[in-house]
Amino acid sequence: MKLLLFVLFIKVISADIPRVDPGYDCAYCQPEQYIESQKIFFIEFLVYHVGSTYGWSEKFSFKTPPNGENWIVRAAIYGDMGNKNAHSLSYLQDEAQRGHFDVVLHVGDFAYDMDTDDARVGDEFMRQIQPLAAGLPYMTCPGNHESKYNFSNYRNRFSMPGSHGSLFYSFDLGPVHFVSLSTEVYYFLQYGLKMLVNQYEWLRRDLAAANTPENREKRPWIVLYGHRPMYCSNSDDIDCSVEYTRKGLPFLGMYSLEPLLREFGVDLVVWAHEHSYERTWPLYDGRVYNGTEEPYRNPGAPVHIVTGSAGCQEDTNKFIPHPPAWSAFRSSDYGYTRLAAHNRTHLYLEQVDVDLKGQVIDSLWIVKDKHAPYEI
Ligand SMILES: [Fe+2]
Repeated sequence: MKLLLFVLFIKVISADIPRVDPGYDCAYCQPEQYIESQKIFFIEFLVYHVGSTYGWSEKFSFKTPPNGENWIVRAAIYGDMGNKNAHSLSYLQDEAQRGHFDVVLHVGDFAYDMDTDDARVGDEFMRQIQPLAAGLPYMTCPGNHESKYNFSNYRNRFSMPGSHGSLFYSFDLGPVHFVSLSTEVYYFLQYGLKMLVNQYEWLRRDLAAANTPENREKRPWIVLYGHRPMYCSNSDDIDCSVEYTRKGLPFLGMYSLEPLLREFGVDLVVWAHEHSYERTWPLYDGRVYNGTEEPYRNPGAPVHIVTGSAGCQEDTNKFIPHPPAWSAFRSSDYGYTRLAAHNRTHLYLEQVDVDLKGQVIDSLWIVKDKHAPYEI
């Protein structure tokens, strides 16, 4: 069998890409990369290594995603993972290497912090996630722990799509349109308002395009993620009561993001920042829209989850004793979320509890016959 596979393993292209512009002036450390494409049957693998005059990495490979929209997208989702106390890391490394995921969404707050010790903490973090990030799209958004030097460590370490320094962007995978935002542009106003305004205007355009009938027909799910939650019921944090992203800038109320979720029919919104897991009922402006059927069957509003308990040196966060009416499930255990967009109508979420050695403690199916703006 091994011999047969060896015979069928065909090297299709071998492309030596001689030099990549590092984006800064450094005569002695120009990074380079080498990529080749290989095929086993109809599955294409890209094999690569990267390096410079300081040395080269070992070879890594990743599988290109299938064409079209009709395949199951499987994602690992979490935020707030540091170098220390990263409880979920070994689970994620293991699952990624076994091929359980097509994409990772790291919803802000890395390393604690990447700029620390002349950015050596950031270097160590990148080595830590290498077993995941070398073989999968490791998609990110900035959190408050990335704010130093105007998010420069974040922007230079992660190359996300688009031309906005990895701060906000979108991408399509299977039946899902993923949108990544910086909630931090609402909080670190010392860096100026321009990025906040740019992001808001870009987001309106991006969601409007994703929501056209043709695009919604082709790729019906819209999943948006950003770092600080619009809703949470933790006992130790004021961010969810500040509500800058939900209701707009203080006093002015401008650039509020929650109305865009309604206007463009965003299906699922993912946050982190709180070191815990929380799922809401379908929710808009503090009110629950559970409808008359099962709550998540054709829900009347977006569903929110907060998943910031991957593990960091700040430990987990507790909750207020009595959950608000919109809170459906919550846990302060370490863990991460799995998402599977099965097809045009069915999307599955589950929460893995690593304190309970990988047990799934929460799960739900969001079922939608139609994806459209909410009638609220
Ligand atoms: Fe945070």
